Amino acid sequence: MFTQWFGEAQTKEKTYPDAMALATVSDSGMPDVRIVLLKKFDSMGFVFFTNYQGKKARDLEFNPKASLCFYWKSLEKQIRISGQVEKVTEVESDDYFESRPHLSKVGAWASKQSEKMVGEHDLEKRLAEYTLKFHFGKVPRPPHWGGYRLTPTRFEFWEERPSRIHRRRQFLWTGDGKWICEKIYP
Ligand SMILES: Cc1cc2nc3c(=O)[nH]c(=O)nc-3n(C[C@H](O)[C@H](O)[C@H](O)COP(=O)(O)O)c2cc1C
Repeated sequence: MFTQWFGEAQTKEKTYPDAMALATVSDSGMPDVRIVLLKKFDSMGFVFFTNYQGKKARDLEFNPKASLCFYWKSLEKQIRISGQVEKVTEVESDDYFESRPHLSKVGAWASKQSEKMVGEHDLEKRLAEYTLKFHFGKVPRPPHWGGYRLTPTRFEFWEERPSRIHRRRQFLWTGDGKWICEKIYP
């Protein structure tokens, strides 16, 4: 069902059909949410890539559970997915990193994601530094950059209907190889 809806979004949504809100919870119990891009999904879960030292990474280290939310205006559909998160293998991160454009690779080295920028031009300086460093040859994947996979235990599919009588279906993982499907009130 996710594959079907995502396929529709890829044909109809004007920008970023793969954008999803990722909600995490910090060690103080404070939720936080930001957009990341879905780069891969299969029966194992949903994969996104990021900096392993930023805020979301710190949250996930403390609490490796998260929620994803897709909303496609063109389809009037929303999908919520929650589950357990873990880092993908080094090989998966290497493979995806390798596919990125050169400047995005350099940017991954230059950005200290979520850290306070002390000097006005710190980022530009770091970009220049790494552009020079990697001018010739292959840009290796920074050790602080890679993917996470969320393995779902709950999906909710929401479809807009007239007069706010929306259609909601949830799928709950029983832990023994089965999903329970339930309709829920809008
Ligand atoms: C459309 C869009 C796509 C984004 N995709 C990613 C992404 O794939 N990975 C990522 O780390 N940040 C992405 N970002 C930036 C994040 O929203 C966020 O600013 C950044 O990851 C830092 O989050 P953190 O401080 O919670 O770690 C994207 C932002 C937007 C608006």
